[in-house]
Amino acid sequence: MSDRISFSLQVNGETHALTAAPERTLLEVLREDLHATGTRRGCDQGSCGACMVLVDGEPRLSCLSLAVTLRGRAITTIEGVETGGALHPVQRALIQHGAVQCGFCMSGIVVTAKALLDHHPNPTPEEIRQALGSNVCRCSGYSKVIEAIASLSASPASQGH
Ligand code: FES
Repeated sequence: MSDRISFSLQVNGETHALTAAPERTLLEVLREDLHATGTRRGCDQGSCGACMVLVDGEPRLSCLSLAVTLRGRAITTIEGVETGGALHPVQRALIQHGAVQCGFCMSGIVVTAKALLDHHPNPTPEEIRQALGSNVCRCSGYSKVIEAIASLSASPASQGH
């Protein structure tokens, strides 16, 4: 068994002091140590996107990221996208467009879409599809998801798909 390492992680604006083996993934630490279970464990091998979080605002597969390597980085999980108890606009749009089926993929989709819109407020449907390329929906409900996210685009060219 590896020696455990003491380190801190900044998750959703809070700093957490942790002690963990160096091989533990961010996904394991989030779910098992910090009880932030909104981040899903799907394939656990980088194929499904259910475990997606943001690291310094960029989407990152937490199942492929070692927690100890993320010291000093700003991690955002699905629990951190609400503001003052209000759902994030991406969450509201997904609900309004009936885009949520079983919901397992939604945490990853919401944070990925948030990153896209934060960097690029006017994505086209094709750009949204590309941004969500690592997020697998096992219900295959992609069209409503794209429609919901496109509804948030400020660009008229992105509407209605
Ligand atoms: Fe990480 Fe599937 S659980 S990509």
